[in-house]
Amino acid sequence: MSIAEIQRIAAADTYYLRARVLRDGDSAAVRVPDDDLPGAWHLGARHSGALVGVASFYPRSCPLATDVAATQLRFMAVDPAMRGRGIGRQLLDRALRELRKEKTGILWANGRDTALDFYTRLGFTVVGDGFNHEPGLPHHLIILGLS
Ligand SMILES: CC(C)(COP(=O)(O)OP(=O)(O)OC[C@H]1O[C@@H](n2cnc3c(N)ncnc32)[C@H](O)[C@@H]1OP(=O)(O)O)[C@@H](O)C(=O)NCCC(=O)NCCS
Repeated sequence: MSIAEIQRIAAADTYYLRARVLRDGDSAAVRVPDDDLPGAWHLGARHSGALVGVASFYPRSCPLATDVAATQLRFMAVDPAMRGRGIGRQLLDRALRELRKEKTGILWANGRDTALDFYTRLGFTVVGDGFNHEPGLPHHLIILGLS
């Protein structure tokens, strides 16, 4: 049985978890212009009424395949107390269902090295050399084909 209920939420509702999990509590750093992009959307995972996971999706071509309709995943975050219980997987499973319906060809992200095993378990491929990315941590490009 699923532990969380996954639903669409507003960008502003992601800010608290984004800041706490990904930006050391810096609430200014999580309000990004990407959220105003037409076609941006956000998922939240609720457990006993509380928001315990978030992920955001932006229509943006993948650096490696600019001719394919693609979506960038950003700000994937699960409450530390709720990790390892399938919530990250539930969020991405729901996103993949929606992206397949809208005929997106690729889901990609700049994935933190500390989360790469999570992404590869869900089918992503790690591509190329590592690089430093906000907030100054090692990352790799990760790609999932949706055909
Ligand atoms: C990465 C993150 C979103 C995963 O969420 P989660 O709810 O704990 O993940 P799940 O419980 O759905 O795990 C799914 C699978 O990935 C594995 N996994 C999860 N996090 C992992 C990690 N950091 N490293 C290795 N494996 C991981 C789980 O063991 C599970 O494997 P299984 O299906 O074989 O049992 C969460 O740990 C998190 O918020 N981390 C901090 C923020 C972060 O790094 N976000 C990504 C930025 S790119």
